[in-house]
Amino acid sequence: MKQEKITTAIVKQKKAEGRPITVLTAYDFPMAKIVDEAGIDIILVGDSMGNVVLGYDSTIPVTMDDMVHHVKAVCRGARRAMIVADMPFLSYQASEEEAVRNAGRFLKEAGAQAVKLEGGAEVVGVVRKIVNAGIPVMGHLGLTPQSINQLGGFKVQGKDERVAKKMIADAKALEEAGVFSVVLECVPAPLAKLITESIGVATIGIGASPYCDGQVLVIHDILGLYPGFTPKFVKQYANLHEQAAAAVKQYKEEVEARAFPAPEHCFGMSEEVLEKLY
Ligand code: KIV
Repeated sequence: MKQEKITTAIVKQKKAEGRPITVLTAYDFPMAKIVDEAGIDIILVGDSMGNVVLGYDSTIPVTMDDMVHHVKAVCRGARRAMIVADMPFLSYQASEEEAVRNAGRFLKEAGAQAVKLEGGAEVVGVVRKIVNAGIPVMGHLGLTPQSINQLGGFKVQGKDERVAKKMIADAKALEEAGVFSVVLECVPAPLAKLITESIGVATIGIGASPYCDGQVLVIHDILGLYPGFTPKFVKQYANLHEQAAAAVKQYKEEVEARAFPAPEHCFGMSEEVLEKLY
């Protein structure tokens, strides 16, 4: 049976009906399949891939080519979920024209349905151009990891009046520019609630309370696959790193003890052919 693809119209409808929007990251074919088959609405191919897949200590080094390669794999694994491709650092800041071309690559070459980019008032012009090119855009406010060197570390954003007021204005400006949703990362619960009530497009929270219209987390965090730092807002639903480490250790021991491969893992041949080989 052909599955209905999640669209921006469905995201809008879910907000209007108060039905939570589910979002998870994925970066490759098998994970995309798991997430899609679980019925998650949106798969975000986040530039968090730089940390959890490529082993960088920030998202800054991630390139357009890195992203396109992984978005293609995710698109091959997902039938129902909307695929949102994260625009990496410096793929949309230098010029509006370059931003539109890069956003377009995610749809034309990779098969994504939308893109995400970080920032408020400073990216409104770029958002408008990309949206005018027919590409749905998801915004991203609060803790924006591509600006980590400006923000001075991974901290909750919007605790003081100035930053909180700017975030509200940024959310409205992004809505006005045409985004279909906005990620709110590491935002105090009351501010996330206020923004969610102030704009007509869906807010997707990560460390931003249940008051958002939807939630997103990094899949490696919920599965316990990333041995590095785990933020307070993450709930770990499995510990696959520990399970994988135990499995690999057992494999090593069995190979060393000649317990693997066992007869059921081996191929035979006819006695007749075998005799001719001696
Ligand atoms: O890159 C990413 O995975 C993200 C989410 C954490 C929102 O931007």
